[in-house]
Amino acid sequence: MKFTEPASANPIDRMTVVGRPHDRIDGPRKTTGTAAYAYERHAEAPNAAYGWIIGAAIAKGRIRSMNLDDARGAPGVLGIVTAAEAGKLNKGNFNTAKLLGGPEIDHYHQAVAIVIAESFEQARAAAGLVRIDYDRAKGQYDLDEALKTAPLTGGEEGKPGKEDRTGSFESAFGAAPVKLDAEYTTPDHSHAMMEPFASLAIWEGDQLTVWTSNQMIAWGRGDLAKTLGMPKEKVRLISPYVGGGFGGKLFLRTDAVMAALGAKAVGRPVKVAMQRPLMANNATHRPATTQRIRIGATKDGAIQAIAHESGSGDQPGGGPETAVNQTKLLYAGPNRLTAMRLAVLNLPEGNAMRAPGEAPGMMALEIAMDEMAEKLGMDPVAFRVKNDTQVDPEKPDRRFSQRQLVRCLEEGAQRFGWSQRNARPAQVRDGRWLVGMGVAAAFRNHMNMKSGARVTLNKDGRVVVETDMTDIGTGSYTIIAQTAAEMMGVPMDAVDVRLGDSDYPVSAGSGGQFGAANATAGVYAACVKLREAVAQRLGFNSADLNFADGQVTGGNRSVALRDAVASGPLTAEDRIEFGDLDKTWQLSTFGAHFVEVGVDAYTGVTRLRRMLAVCAAGRILNPKAARSQMIGAMTMGVGSALMEELAVDKRFGFFVNHDLAGYEVPVHADIPHQEVIFLEEADDKANPMKAKGVGELGLCGVGAAVANAVYNATGVRIRDYPLTLEKHL
Ligand code: MOS
Repeated sequence: MKFTEPASANPIDRMTVVGRPHDRIDGPRKTTGTAAYAYERHAEAPNAAYGWIIGAAIAKGRIRSMNLDDARGAPGVLGIVTAAEAGKLNKGNFNTAKLLGGPEIDHYHQAVAIVIAESFEQARAAAGLVRIDYDRAKGQYDLDEALKTAPLTGGEEGKPGKEDRTGSFESAFGAAPVKLDAEYTTPDHSHAMMEPFASLAIWEGDQLTVWTSNQMIAWGRGDLAKTLGMPKEKVRLISPYVGGGFGGKLFLRTDAVMAALGAKAVGRPVKVAMQRPLMANNATHRPATTQRIRIGATKDGAIQAIAHESGSGDQPGGGPETAVNQTKLLYAGPNRLTAMRLAVLNLPEGNAMRAPGEAPGMMALEIAMDEMAEKLGMDPVAFRVKNDTQVDPEKPDRRFSQRQLVRCLEEGAQRFGWSQRNARPAQVRDGRWLVGMGVAAAFRNHMNMKSGARVTLNKDGRVVVETDMTDIGTGSYTIIAQTAAEMMGVPMDAVDVRLGDSDYPVSAGSGGQFGAANATAGVYAACVKLREAVAQRLGFNSADLNFADGQVTGGNRSVALRDAVASGPLTAEDRIEFGDLDKTWQLSTFGAHFVEVGVDAYTGVTRLRRMLAVCAAGRILNPKAARSQMIGAMTMGVGSALMEELAVDKRFGFFVNHDLAGYEVPVHADIPHQEVIFLEEADDKANPMKAKGVGELGLCGVGAAVANAVYNATGVRIRDYPLTLEKHL
């Protein structure tokens, strides 16, 4: 089904199942420990051996020699694989560094060997006996230093980069009576998911099956096949449960490659869970940014000029953190400049993490808006409202499909009691706590992605949905079941959802908050076809049928749905594809974050007191699951504001705090009252579900709302994340 015109009325609009707060159908399996994750597929491979990954001890250079003799002779050892015996390996499309390094080393903790043994403990012990000598080369690990000569991005292949300009920024900024010019920095971040990268590889002849933990099955399958130099038809990837991804599992990672190589070498299934201390440096991370924002406005607060420049670094061949994305679209203003610089660093690979681009970009932009409001003597809500735009400010003939930012801000202000805020900082005390309130807009673009599904109506009346879509804890199983139940007119418990298997039709996958809307739209498309097949079997002429309560009704004729499959099951497969509606219309999601903090007047410790988010993000498929996405993202936002930071060792080129003891994230005890409101919306320009995403929206802006609340509490403006207590001095 190709989506080329705004969606008309369709069976989803009934909202008898879709739009309801159904509990997660995978919830009981996960909370009782009966959901078998990749490392726990004991039934599939009872004789699996265990792998232990050895990570490079240098950030850049060469392996001079490796001595494996002692390790090979250690108890239980079945084999050791290094680049020397792995044969020719390629790099997948989504990897910048090789997933098995050697002799050249691209980054610290790049995998250089896997030791396979009968037991996990034996593999670990033997790995300690491997002796590797390195020749260390000089690398660049200092972002500030590297940015001094870093080129602009955004050029065509092989051409110099460029700035994006609308109007004349410099002259408008120069002439503006009120202006801000400030620099903001965000540190490197680690995904820090609970489930590590984990894979179980099983070879049957030349056929490879890998149980793994991956957000994007088709990408992973293609990349694994490419890396190993085999046809992708010979590779099956299965990932029914993912214990957190956050962008770190968008791409094939070392665990799957090493499990496959190890299993081949020892002639047995091999399972590999990446050791926690390797995770921060072996995997990808969100790159640090240095962002300069300039805003010039009239005295009454109309933005005349806005510039956002961001610099970040990555491995050779990598990409920038696209932190200027939102500044192109969020606020009005005729004179605009955005630009990114990309430095080459020899730190581990940078890549997507939790709303890449907008998350760190909004952390900067929304402090800048707060600072500007103060300079103008305006309320920060009113300043944002004044600079709302219903069109793309760079392309004024392009409208937002929907944009209720103003309502989010105003409704949020009212519900939060924003009028109680004292605009003068450091005025409110509660015992030893300095109390402050902060606001920020939330913004994240919506992306269309092709997505397929297969739906079967069985003789027993049950509906089976199969798609390679993943559920990374987001509720995919549930919203897909809701979609199929609504479309076929059957109860939720008559739907079986099977996910995360490369044998199923290729879906959008889970990333960029595009999963929910696109994957359900693909299921919708397959259900439309299945309904047609049912209608034909039942002898209906019209396509205008109602599927409800197990009955199919057209005109004054009503037939049991099961009658259609009396002679055998019916299967339909289709996918949603998109025309260029998203060129005609800008598809984005909006919200407003309100935060109240207390800052200890004596120690500088910041504690959250209240959080509220009001969102406008198209139709909400399941308000309970969507709320969970939002409060999870808001919690991450608190982490990015107050705690999260990978500390770079600029001498040796690695992230020092590479485990969950050293990399701090918020826990439940850090987060008090959180409230989430969804405005009523249905975006007919987005897809037939009329839905967009919310998962990443919840994160974009909230860090700045926390920072603005801290400023309101203390009067100390901190522009360098995270806002740790020594920065108050
Ligand atoms: Mo997300 S960072 O695209 O998984």
